[in-house]
Amino acid sequence: MKRVALIGYSGHAFVVADTLLSLGINLLGYFEQKKKESNPFNLPYIGQEEDEKNLEILKEKDTFFFACVGNNRIRSKIIKTMLGSGFQTLVAAHPGSFISEFSSVGEGTLAAPGCRVNALANVGRGVILNTGSIVEHECIIKDFAHIAPGAVLAGNVLIGESSFVGANAVIKEGITIGKNVTIGAGSVIIKDIPDNEMWVGNPGKKLDKNEK
Ligand SMILES: CC(C)(COP(=O)(O)OP(=O)(O)OC[C@H]1O[C@@H](n2cnc3c(N)ncnc32)[C@H](O)[C@@H]1OP(=O)(O)O)[C@@H](O)C(=O)NCCC(=O)NCCS
Repeated sequence: MKRVALIGYSGHAFVVADTLLSLGINLLGYFEQKKKESNPFNLPYIGQEEDEKNLEILKEKDTFFFACVGNNRIRSKIIKTMLGSGFQTLVAAHPGSFISEFSSVGEGTLAAPGCRVNALANVGRGVILNTGSIVEHECIIKDFAHIAPGAVLAGNVLIGESSFVGANAVIKEGITIGKNVTIGAGSVIIKDIPDNEMWVGNPGKKLDKNEK
């Protein structure tokens, strides 16, 4: 039986815990900076993942970590460090999600309930495909991106590394979104977006707070 220790134990981690439990995976506990007061899944506190002695638990056979942090930058750092130290993570695809057998999904990625990944899509490592999001045919999602609940990527969309697509946003087919981009909730993106920009609205426009 597979065993998983969670890294991070708040909001987003609860969706991951639910997903892993519904796959019949045994949850070993959680790593956090401090023991949490709220413990809805009654998980043991392991300690900080920076402390090497706490990582012993991950050296057993069939044992994995899962980074449960919504922030793309922090999740990326955790996953890179842990993989670099030889630990393993896995794909957490809720039984209520759909992932086409003609698509690929990288390790450390969550497919939350109701999300759909259609044929020939390619989803990287450490990605969050949140509740009910739709990744249409031939989309490419680079590592550590987050597709928030209800967002729709029409066919052939490219989402760059560590970018965030807000809840219920729609990205028109064939659009390319750069790295570290933020797209606001409910936005409709009909133009390509370069790296590091924030876009909102319908039709989506660049939000430049410094110009205000
Ligand atoms: C885009 C976003 C990140 C901007 O947050 P922010 O930097 O705090 O920006 P502010 O709230 O200060 O808003 C700045 C301006 O953008 C506008 N704006 C913000 N979000 C917007 C959105 N989603 N659609 C349209 N306009 C938006 C605001 O009205 C404001 O305009 P104004 O200056 O003319 O009044 C945020 O509003 C957002 O949409 N986050 C996504 C939420 C989400 O999907 N969560 C899911 C989590 S799983």
